[in-house]
Amino acid sequence: MTYSRIVGTGRYLPERIMTNKDLEKIVDTSDEWIRTRTGVERRHVCAEDQTTSEMCIEAAKVAMADAGVGPEDIDMVITGTTTPDLIFPNISTIIQHKLGIPACTAFSLEAACTGFIYALSTADKFIKAGEAKCALVLGAECITKLVNWKDRNTCVLFGDGAGAVIIKPSEEPGIISCHLGADGQHKDLLYYPVGVSKDLASAGTDAAGIMMTGSEVFKVAVRTLGSIASKTLEDAGVTKEDLDWLVPHQANIRIIQSMAKRLDMPMEKVIVTVQDHGNTSAASVPLALDVGIRDGRIKKGQLILMEAFGGGFTWGTVLVRL
Ligand code: UT7
Repeated sequence: MTYSRIVGTGRYLPERIMTNKDLEKIVDTSDEWIRTRTGVERRHVCAEDQTTSEMCIEAAKVAMADAGVGPEDIDMVITGTTTPDLIFPNISTIIQHKLGIPACTAFSLEAACTGFIYALSTADKFIKAGEAKCALVLGAECITKLVNWKDRNTCVLFGDGAGAVIIKPSEEPGIISCHLGADGQHKDLLYYPVGVSKDLASAGTDAAGIMMTGSEVFKVAVRTLGSIASKTLEDAGVTKEDLDWLVPHQANIRIIQSMAKRLDMPMEKVIVTVQDHGNTSAASVPLALDVGIRDGRIKKGQLILMEAFGGGFTWGTVLVRL
């Protein structure tokens, strides 16, 4: 049986950094509140004219160099994002063309903060089916462009960035298992009120911003992630003790801590970037993965659980041996 394996990672973060102190000047908040309630200390914010595809291209170049592959080797591009450059053409076609990748399967998918997990799981299936030999998988957002900077409930939470991985076929896993889920019953707890077929003219104005009932999202996230993590390990026949690293979605340090507790993992075995990146939505897991690999903590051969939860609600895990 053919598996897929992550053979390279990369990340890009915009130059501009906004600290909690900067936000104190914009809304009625405090560094202390943001740190203690969320764990965020600073976040990267893309330039006004910077697009998600531009960030993806930078992250992809790093991942391709890491994997030792060139544009001609890649035959699939999948991007998980809620904030593509344009409605069409698809962001992955822009990335494919600008990177000089020959014509191939290229598309994006939107699963809010779970976008990268959905994208990686999808690419894994293409590789296993023999329909792709080398996939560029991205999670990226210019989510701050959707933020209402007058709403302290949400504007302090988010940041921008792009993470990329290259996956290839392998005789050994690799990606051991993926679990995806979604349930629209709580859709009103976290959403953006404007879309293509609904109120498009007010997109990006003060009238539209990310709508979130934070404390309720928090409870469902903790509950759902806890049970899906346990199910993932059970299905794969591995125990909590087998896990080397947890690479979680970086929405809130308190959610991350509760996941670590549930998995009996000390925080030393959890990659935490929320203090530096904020919640970068679909970018958060691949950014954290790249940070952990590049600073030498995550090593080849180790067992990693990635997980995410976001608007929809959507959620997912990927269990991977690096
Ligand atoms: O990535 C997708 C999934 N997203 C998540 O998982 C996010 C989950 N939720 C959260 O992370 C947390 O619920 C938040 C960080 C969003 C909020 O933390 P919380 O502890 O749940 O606070 P809260 O919403 O219950 O608000 C507590 C208080 C309120 O004041 P009152 O009503 O108690 O007087 C808010 O008005 O904190 C106030 N508040 C703030 N105060 C200072 C809300 N935002 C701020 C702020 N600065 N920025």
